[in-house]
Amino acid sequence: MKTNTVKLGVNIDHVATLRQARRDVDPDPVAAAGVCRQAGADMIVCHLRQDRRHIQDADLFKLCDLKGETHLELSTAPEMVALALKARPDSVCLVPESPREITTQGGINLKTQAKAVGRAVERLKKADIEVSLFIDPEAGSVRLSKSLGADLVELCTSAYAEAPGKNRRAAELERLELAGYLADEMGLGIHAGHALNYHNVRPVARIPRLGALNIGFAIVARSVFVGLKTAVLEMKLLLS
Ligand code: PXP
Repeated sequence: MKTNTVKLGVNIDHVATLRQARRDVDPDPVAAAGVCRQAGADMIVCHLRQDRRHIQDADLFKLCDLKGETHLELSTAPEMVALALKARPDSVCLVPESPREITTQGGINLKTQAKAVGRAVERLKKADIEVSLFIDPEAGSVRLSKSLGADLVELCTSAYAEAPGKNRRAAELERLELAGYLADEMGLGIHAGHALNYHNVRPVARIPRLGALNIGFAIVARSVFVGLKTAVLEMKLLLS
């Protein structure tokens, strides 16, 4: 019988988006993290953005104090890295961030951002925090991730999820598989995520040696109809 080895990281940012719509206390992303864990989430993921549009500093500190794995998505800005060093999540994924984007726009450009990424990786690793880099599924980015000292890569699945038509989608899946293969050969752990949902997740979950999938929007959106526990359970089932 096949055992489920792909971990599910549930990104709870959009629970906080809803709370911030009224600057209220509910729905509380920290309480949501507990529900997600009970339903089988292996990691709780959040993105502390520089504009603080959803997750707030206090949320991050509380999430890092909970039992279980907390994974933080973060820009390379030195003040953001300093916050991560204080909050001490188990792992950090460095992501590109620009002020008016609706969501993260693809992987980090490691050619133009090498210095900033290298500095952030060094500071985080010195503090024993595992570091992942959010990259597009390209050989060059995988190699640069290794040379910049990352432990893991998170392969951006947006191009796969947004591919028009079966053929393009199959080609994007192959790019993910090849990048995953190279990352594994180079001794990097492999995560993947962004824009995954209940309809497109299964082929990605079968990528060899994939360690975890990080999924947020689709789960929180589904929770409006079925509740958070069921939304997480349904996603877990698709990964098994
Ligand atoms: N992985 C990374 C690096 C992200 O920035 C995000 C969005 O915060 C996700 C995964 C989750 O994306 P989605 O909300 O589309 O599932």
